[in-house]
Amino acid sequence: MKTYAIILAAGKGTRMKSLLDDKSKVSYPILGVPLVKHVLNALRPLNIEKKVAIVGFGGPATEEIVRDEAETVYQHEQKGTGHAIIQAAPLLAGEQGRTLIVCGDTPLLKTTTLQKLIEQHDQENNKLTVLSAIVPNPRGYGRIIRGSDGSVSEIVEQADVNEKQNAINEVNAGVYVFDNKLLFEYLDKLSPTNAQGEYYLTDLIKMFKNAGLKIGASIAGDYREMLGINDRRQLEEAAAIMRREINERHMLAGVTIEDSSSTYIGPDVVIQPDTVIRPGTHIYGKTAIGRQNVIGPSTFLDNVVIGDENHIIFSHVADSSIGSANEVGPYARIRGHSTIGNHTRVGNFVEFKACILHDGAKAAHLSYLGDVDIGEKTNIGCGTIVANYDGYNKTKTVIGKDVFVGSGSTLISPIVVEDNAFIAAGSTINRSVPKDDMAIARARQENKPGYGIVVRERALQKKLASQKK
Ligand code: UD1
Ligand code: CA
Repeated sequence: MKTYAIILAAGKGTRMKSLLDDKSKVSYPILGVPLVKHVLNALRPLNIEKKVAIVGFGGPATEEIVRDEAETVYQHEQKGTGHAIIQAAPLLAGEQGRTLIVCGDTPLLKTTTLQKLIEQHDQENNKLTVLSAIVPNPRGYGRIIRGSDGSVSEIVEQADVNEKQNAINEVNAGVYVFDNKLLFEYLDKLSPTNAQGEYYLTDLIKMFKNAGLKIGASIAGDYREMLGINDRRQLEEAAAIMRREINERHMLAGVTIEDSSSTYIGPDVVIQPDTVIRPGTHIYGKTAIGRQNVIGPSTFLDNVVIGDENHIIFSHVADSSIGSANEVGPYARIRGHSTIGNHTRVGNFVEFKACILHDGAKAAHLSYLGDVDIGEKTNIGCGTIVANYDGYNKTKTVIGKDVFVGSGSTLISPIVVEDNAFIAAGSTINRSVPKDDMAIARARQENKPGYGIVVRERALQKKLASQKK
C-alpha cells in the first residue's frame, strides 16, 4: 500500500510574537535547521510516495525550505488544521493508500515513532490512527477523550475543554495516519462550530467514530518527542532536548565533548572518533570532521570539511575545507570557499576569503588573504594584505611555491608571484614577480648622523615653552 504525507506548515505562529510579516513559524531554526526541515528529516527514511506541505503565512520562505523534498500547496487564509488539509485535495484526494499527517512545528518527532504508528494502523486495520502522549502539563494541546471501553472517541481542543476534560493529560501529538480516501471524504463534512471558529482536523475523530470507522491510538514512549513549538519558550526547550540528544550520540560514538551545555552541533554533522570538542563550540550545516582533531574552545564551523589531527582554536570557518595536521587560530577567520591543505599554519587574526593554501604554507599573523592561491611551503609574513578589490571588481592573485612574502606587504591583485621569489618587507607590489627574483617596493632609507639628538632637544624645548604659558 502506498503512503502519502501531509506536512502542516501554513500557520502564522501568533504566539511567537514576531513583528515580521513574512516569517512562518516553521522556518524558525533549531541548531541551524528550520523546524519543518527537522520534520522532513524524520520522514525521509520512510517510503513515502508523495509529500505535500501546506504553506500559507510566510509561504515563500517555507517553500524555499521544503522545495527539494515536498510539493507545496497554499492555504491563503489560516482557517484551521482541517481547512489546511483540504488544500491538498487536488494532489491527493483520489489516491488509494494511507496518509500520514504531521505538523511542521514538532521538530523532535522520530522516524521510528512514525514507522510504528503506520505499522499499528495496518495491523489493526484502522481507518484512522492517532499518536498521543501522556504529558506533565497538557495545557495548549487537544485532549484525547476515551470511552468506557478505553477506545478513543474524540479530541477536544484546549479552547473547548470543560473542567473535567481540562484535567486529562493524554494529549493529541498532531500526528495521524488516515485512510486517504476517507480522509478527504470526511474533510468536506467539517464545520467551524467551536470556540475558535476554525475547521479542526481533530473533529474527524468523532466523525469517524460515529460512522463506525475503526480508530486506533498509539501512546508515544517519550512525550517530549511531540513537543509542539508554539512560542519561543518551547523553541528553547526543544532546542535544549535536541542538542543534548545529538551530543550524546556523538559522545557514545567516540567523540569527546568537554562541556555539552555549551556545545551546539547540527543534526547533519558527522564527526569521527577521538576528536575533542572544547567548550563554546558551534558546528552547523553539512560539516564533516575527521579523527583526532581538537576543535575549540569557542569555535564556529558551518559547512566545513575537516581532515584529521588539526587544532582549530577560537576560530570561525564557513563553507571551506581543511586537510590534516593543520594549526588554525586563535582568531582565524576562513570563509568564501577557501581550501587549506595539510601541515599548514593559519595564525591569529588571519582572514581567508576564497584562499587556497597549499601544503606546508604558513600565514601566522594578522593578514587578509582574499582570492589568492598560495603555493607549497610559502611563508606569508605578518600583516600581509592581498588587495583583491578595486571598488568594482574582485581579482585573483597567484603566489607560487617556496615564496617569502615579507611582513607588512600589500599585494595588489591581479598579479603572479612565481616560485621561490622574495618580497622585501613593507613592499607594495602591483606587478608580477618572476621566479627567484627579489622585489622591493618602498622608499629607500636614509640615516642622518646624530640627528636623533637634535630632534629630541627641539621637542623638549617646545614642551617647556608651553608649560611656562
Ligand atoms: C494542534 C491540534 C491539537 C494538538 C496539537 C499538537 C488541531 C485543531 N489541534 O493544536 O489537538 O494537540 O496540534 O501540537 O489540529 N496550521 C496550518 N493551517 C492552519 C492552522 C494551523 O497549516 O490554518 C499548521 C501550523 O502551521 C502548525 C500545525 O498546523 O504546523 C498545528 O497548528 P497549531 O496552530 O500549532 O495547532 P495547535 O493549537 O498546536
Ligand atoms: Ca502547535
